[in-house]
Amino acid sequence: MKFVVCESYEELSQKAADVFALQIQKKPDSVLGLATGSTPLGFYAHLCKRYQEGALDFSKVNTFNLDEYYPISHTHAQSYHVYMEKNLFSHVNLQKENIHLPSGEAKDPNQAAHDYSLALQKVGGLDLQLLGVGHNGHIGFNEPNTSLELSAHVEILAERTRKANARFFACEKDVPSRALTMGLGEIFNAKKLVLLCYGKEKANCIQALKKGKITTQVPVTLLALHPDITVFCDTAAMQAKNADF
Ligand code: GLP
Repeated sequence: MKFVVCESYEELSQKAADVFALQIQKKPDSVLGLATGSTPLGFYAHLCKRYQEGALDFSKVNTFNLDEYYPISHTHAQSYHVYMEKNLFSHVNLQKENIHLPSGEAKDPNQAAHDYSLALQKVGGLDLQLLGVGHNGHIGFNEPNTSLELSAHVEILAERTRKANARFFACEKDVPSRALTMGLGEIFNAKKLVLLCYGKEKANCIQALKKGKITTQVPVTLLALHPDITVFCDTAAMQAKNADF
């Protein structure tokens, strides 16, 4: 596991974008796993800028997002469909048929999760996956539990997650109670992982990773097992002492 400690949010965003830019330049038909949340906003801004400057071509790239709330309309302002459209898809030349997100509108969410897994298998899995981390250590929407699922599935959101994500909704009760998420197996099958961890409220996640103890109660700790993971974090997170959850 490689840690890259950054002095600023800008540096973190730029360095993470460098990894993705290189991947697309080396393999124009890369399969990229994408994440949402406030942390990757600067990263997406960099990717869009590079596309506008003519340095990147997304025409053969396939994307698979980690997760989506359930139930949620794809036009809801807080859906990850809208987030991705606003922050990446509407700015670059990705082909519509190459963009994949779990459906927050599916009649049968379990079937939708299964179909999502199959679509990912069909393209041969992920080349490079971007990850953020939840306040309770969740990855995608894989919440702390006694066991974790390998494949895409429906997850019941933890109370702490709904509280943390309530800042984006009118109130906590508006946060959907479930989500569709890629499973840990699918994330782990990515050839390369990039984890973004910024801000003092994520310091516990960095400390837990550094501690080297693996527990499904803090899903981010499992990432230490991946053979090619780079963690981009800030100085505060790296120096903190607190590994409590
Ligand atoms: C959500 C997403 C995660 C993301 C997390 C952190 O819960 N499902 O994939 O990593 O938010 O978001 P933020 O970057 O806003 O802290």
